[in-house]
Amino acid sequence: MKTKVLIIGAGPSGILLSLLLKRKNIDSIILEKKSSEHVAKRIRAGILEPGTVKLLKKAGVSNRLAKEGLKHNGFKVACNNNIYNINLKLLGNDSVTVYGQTEVTKDLMQKLSDQKVKVIYDVPKINILDINDNPQVEFYNNKSKEIVKADFIVGCDGYHGISKNYIPNDIKKIFKKEYGFGWLGILSDTKPISKELIYINNKNGFALCSMRSKKRSRYYIQCDINENINNWSDDRFWNSLYKALPSDIQKNLKTGPAIEKSIAKLRSYVIEPMSYKKLFLAGDAAHIVPPTGAKGLNLALSDIDKLSTAFINFYEKNNELELINYSSSCLNRVWKTQRFSSWMTNILHNIPKEDIFLRKIKKIEIEHVFSSINAKKILANNYLGKY
Ligand code: APR
Ligand code: PHB
Repeated sequence: MKTKVLIIGAGPSGILLSLLLKRKNIDSIILEKKSSEHVAKRIRAGILEPGTVKLLKKAGVSNRLAKEGLKHNGFKVACNNNIYNINLKLLGNDSVTVYGQTEVTKDLMQKLSDQKVKVIYDVPKINILDINDNPQVEFYNNKSKEIVKADFIVGCDGYHGISKNYIPNDIKKIFKKEYGFGWLGILSDTKPISKELIYINNKNGFALCSMRSKKRSRYYIQCDINENINNWSDDRFWNSLYKALPSDIQKNLKTGPAIEKSIAKLRSYVIEPMSYKKLFLAGDAAHIVPPTGAKGLNLALSDIDKLSTAFINFYEKNNELELINYSSSCLNRVWKTQRFSSWMTNILHNIPKEDIFLRKIKKIEIEHVFSSINAKKILANNYLGKY
């Protein structure tokens, strides 16, 4: 097989890249480890920055998003029974859209099949054979070995992918931080407690009231890094969440059976550089942010915005400059996003073994942010993805 751009991984990054290239008749092939059913069902975050919505529109996958996405002009932060409002419209002149990543993925997969882009699912093992003059990979398809030759290889294979391993150790630098706690999340077909998201910091740590629609809620509470999901009945979760809520909204909590329950460990991760020779990394393959602030998907798709434009300039204008600058231009946004996500994580969680001095400073910092119009403007713009 031969193609222009060989993409490893059919998550949102890989699929969006192939669709943006297809619009310009640039041929690509996607190889995905899991089945299409598995990819379509994964549940992740659900807040889209305005730039992400624009990009999905450009790729022709925004019809359902425009109808079903919920525009949110603000969010709330509850701390010590005070509830602060961040009005995104007033402070940042824009809004975010609540639309689950599962729905984004379904729309992207539907478009892939309409556009007849070649995707091979259930590919258990891929070896990258060359990222220099003759880029190619080998893989097993129904037990027979196949080779794909390409002009470029793009690793969109997420945090557990293999592509990043092909950047030599003496070239790559890895920056990582484990936060030492997790989020226990629940999805339920119950009316959300509030029209807007509520980020909560209370004596037991963090909680978040989010949603997927007017009838489907997504809630999280901070949990121990070694927590076992099997120890969490639905009742135990709802009770813990109830206790974390500001007292005057507790009565509004609607509970019901969990459709999904899972634990995610919080971490930050960045690999530099994000490209080497003819290999490019994008999305979770190159960086992970903690979920506070919902930046993971937005950051991933902003890499794809840059990379697709760089490929289009290369194929249409024979201009390689943006491909050469891809890594440095992405890393600028990556580090700004890491700063914001880790700041939001630090101020809203109880950090294990945190000393009392830092806790005092943190409390003052929260009060400062919500009493300063300038600090609130910075928070609102960061949340909107305008750094
Ligand atoms: N070979 C082929 N495919 C692979 C391999 C491999 N060795 N390893 C992983 N994959 C696939 C995964 O099965 C998955 O479908 O790569 C895909 C990676 O998808 P995501 O993890 O969703 O990453 P990405 O597409 O970058 O999506 C952006 O940002 O923070 C997150 O929640 C957000 O998942 C979202 C992500
Ligand atoms: C979610 O709805 O899953 C969500 C929302 C906001 C966040 C993180 C996750 O900051």
